[in-house]
Amino acid sequence: MLHITPGPTTAAWTELAPHASRLSGVPTRELFARDPGRFERFSRQAVGLQLDFSRQRIDEIVLARLIELADAVGLRERIEAMWHGERINLTEDRAVLHVALRQPAGAAVGGSDIERQVMQERERMLSFAEAVRSGRIVGSAGKPFSLVVNIGIGGSDLGPAMAVQALEQFTAGAPRCEFISNIDGNHLYDVLAEADPATTLFIVASKTFVTLETLTNARTARAWLKSKLGEEAVPAHFAAVSVNHRAMDEFKVHPDYRFQMWDWVGGRYSIWSSIGVSLAIAVGRAGFLQFLQGGHAMDEHFRSAPWHSNLPVLLGLVGVWNINFLQLPTHAVLPYDDRLKRLPAYLQQLEMESNGKSVTLQGKPVEWQTAPIVWGEPGNNAQHSFFQLLHQGTQRAALDFHVSAKSSCGDQHHQDLAIANCLAQAEAFMAGQSADDVRADLERHGVPVERIAALLAHKVHQGSRPNTICLFERLDPATLGSLIALYEHKVFTQGVIWGINSFDQWGVELGKKLAEQLIPAVQDPAAAHAVPPAVAKLLTSIHELRRAT
Ligand code: F6P
Repeated sequence: MLHITPGPTTAAWTELAPHASRLSGVPTRELFARDPGRFERFSRQAVGLQLDFSRQRIDEIVLARLIELADAVGLRERIEAMWHGERINLTEDRAVLHVALRQPAGAAVGGSDIERQVMQERERMLSFAEAVRSGRIVGSAGKPFSLVVNIGIGGSDLGPAMAVQALEQFTAGAPRCEFISNIDGNHLYDVLAEADPATTLFIVASKTFVTLETLTNARTARAWLKSKLGEEAVPAHFAAVSVNHRAMDEFKVHPDYRFQMWDWVGGRYSIWSSIGVSLAIAVGRAGFLQFLQGGHAMDEHFRSAPWHSNLPVLLGLVGVWNINFLQLPTHAVLPYDDRLKRLPAYLQQLEMESNGKSVTLQGKPVEWQTAPIVWGEPGNNAQHSFFQLLHQGTQRAALDFHVSAKSSCGDQHHQDLAIANCLAQAEAFMAGQSADDVRADLERHGVPVERIAALLAHKVHQGSRPNTICLFERLDPATLGSLIALYEHKVFTQGVIWGINSFDQWGVELGKKLAEQLIPAVQDPAAAHAVPPAVAKLLTSIHELRRAT
């Protein structure tokens, strides 16, 4: 039986509120000036990650109250409930055991039966991946695979796509991986145009195996392969990952090429399962195991570390502070590493699909904000596009920077410049530039008084834009595993505080259902009579435009 105490109903929450107005009046640079030990006080290191949240608008009183909040909502018990396989996903009546997927042998996370199933399936998947990678498993014409095409969407795409790109430098000797997700067919046809059917392996990744986008793309890919090599060649070129065995039967996936997942793995938490087979092909058995180890190390840390040194909990608490107390509705993810280009998209699904909810676990409307809008872009690109607004605009965002000390591509000169930019931006967002600073700078450069007067207001940066830097030695499989698990547990921490279910996603169903209903009307004007009035006219225009020569 879960004891659910949403944070906003606790005394700890009420006690936090006045501190928001108190600290809103104190520029963060002043907090640094008052306390030379601020970095030590507000940065933590664990599992290869260093979190520096000293540029957040917090002080020790706020941190202490936030930690009380974690206790007040019963976070410790909720973590244990998750680990023990309790059905904490109440609306789907499911356990939530992605932590079981990254356990080492003997850990019995989720119980010995689950551990046995995980180990067995992991071994099958890794053996397959290694055999594809090394050319022991070949296509129908006996040639090794040079291209792996993962067909999936959401959690069956974003995790592996993000990770394969992030770990590019560990993929030497592996087939190239492509990730097809969207239903419009453009990416699929681009990939097929360049692909050699004899050396292409498709992986149909879909927990449910009913997802329209994935099945449409998979059927087109299958038809393409059949047209090139014949029906009998198809099984050698298609693997699949799903809980839905019947659908894999219907798709005629060879039993040795199909991999299992379980209902207790949410799609957006599934990269650690066989959904990660493309990643395992790319980085090999050892790389994939290091990735799991990184995730598991973060699990152990989350489960055992006291709140004041617990990275996911601190990240979650600081997020709650920004969203609920400082009223910052958006959160930007800004990696200073092009290889983490897809991290913002990955975290969008993780955070927004998990915590984008407006009823509590008991089905009551929430009277507080939940997940922020998550967005982002590699930091350097962002500097030259939207940082202007973040520095001087009227809208505010909280920011997470990610940066590695060592280069991912082996050119440290480039990485040093990326690091300098990251640190400079973090400092500029925090310290800002006062009118006095601007005036002194312009005077130093001999700018005439009247020009200074005209420019002054335009050059002021208010500062106090809260940001956290996540620093690591280098982007390797273990670090990436720790980083992803860090955010997964952050999301869980926040979900517990908000009293919501982080593991269902009912909000994606309505649109899917309507799309299914609209397909006949889009395809055939004669079927367009039963469509909702709000889209009927547009549908007429679409039919007219399609007829136009
Ligand atoms: O539409 C949302 C969603 O259900 C995600 O939660 C999931 O990751 C994605 O679709 C793909 O689902 P599946 O793996 O079942 O194809």
